Amino acid sequence: MPDLAAIAARHTGSPFLAACRGEPHDTVPVWFMRQAGRALAEYREIRARHSFEEVVHTPELAAEVTLQPVRRYGVDAAVLFSDIVTPVQAIGLEVTIEPGIGPVIDRPLRTSEDIGRLRRLDAEEDLRHVLDTVSLLVAELDVPLIGFAGAPFTLASYLIEGGPSRSYTRTKALMFTDELTWHRLLDRLASITLSSLQGQIARGASAVQLFDSWAGALAPQDYERFVLPHSRRVLEELEGMGVPRIHFGVDTGELLGAMAAAGADVVGVDWRTPLDLARQRVPEHVGLQGNLEPAVCLGPFHQVAERARDVLARAGGRPDHVFNLGHGVLPDTDPGILAELVDLVHAEGVVQEPADDR
Ligand code: CP3
Repeated sequence: MPDLAAIAARHTGSPFLAACRGEPHDTVPVWFMRQAGRALAEYREIRARHSFEEVVHTPELAAEVTLQPVRRYGVDAAVLFSDIVTPVQAIGLEVTIEPGIGPVIDRPLRTSEDIGRLRRLDAEEDLRHVLDTVSLLVAELDVPLIGFAGAPFTLASYLIEGGPSRSYTRTKALMFTDELTWHRLLDRLASITLSSLQGQIARGASAVQLFDSWAGALAPQDYERFVLPHSRRVLEELEGMGVPRIHFGVDTGELLGAMAAAGADVVGVDWRTPLDLARQRVPEHVGLQGNLEPAVCLGPFHQVAERARDVLARAGGRPDHVFNLGHGVLPDTDPGILAELVDLVHAEGVVQEPADDR
């Protein structure tokens, strides 16, 4: 096991980690969700020779793909190359990632008996290759590595629907027809997610992001009743491990307060909610990450610059802002635009001193 204190010492000056903690730093940190991937020719070149799963399960390849955007863009953090469905694949569920679609599962989970197919995850055993990637990366990186996992609801939605969905009808049907089974399912998924994150942190990940990408499909009262307790268990059990916890979802304007209350140090905001409005929805001690509309990066740079300045202005120079897109990098994005965007955030972002009462 790595010397976690030595890794922490190496990143003492990291603006990303300082911002996650609301501590003083000089430049606004920036990284991009899905910064690794098809926008980069060097990624497509590797994918032409290896399947997505092959890349994820070959530590040298996964580490290389994780490093590509760090080299290209000069971002302030790396994010482990893996997928939210990797841990459930590792315990034997037949999930395949279909290009252009997303995760698709052979035999969806629909009944109380199906839940028996979700056994416990032993991260060191079942995710050994993924954790070996973490080890390779922390040895090599000058910036912190962000580990991640899917939140119980978003994982459940893939496993129940069988693939991506627009309406999440089957997922909600289980929620509203068999609440006991629903909570058993989310409890198992929470344990899997927790074990995966604990494993990544033990190998040296400096921060984690819990992706509840599709939680925005829920009304706040249903999020609070059916989802929040499980995500809270994950985040609270990580609290003692000393790494910042980022909690992100799409279309979660009405859920931001609850997502903060789940035990997040930083809440990720999509592009629909202006950051100054998001600020009013989370407690003072919680930071914000986001939230440039990813599609803006498909247009000319002068427009990207204008919108990035607007994001910075709405963040108000607070020391607890991490610049990001409002969701993942779109595959058609010109990498040159993202590199210029990183330079702009570093050059123009102003960080004020933390207030005394933090
Ligand atoms: O952000 C990063 O650079 C790290 C890598 C990462 C991937 N997936 C790589 C990936 C992360 C953090 C994820 C998380 C993930 N996966 C989420 C949560 C984030 C989000 O977007 O909200 C979700 C919902 C998934 C499920 C998933 N996996 C989707 C929707 C897709 C895209 C399918 C497609 O082809 O459009 C995947 C596959 C996937 N995961 C790719 C990458 C780079 C594309 C694989 C390829 O074809 O090369």
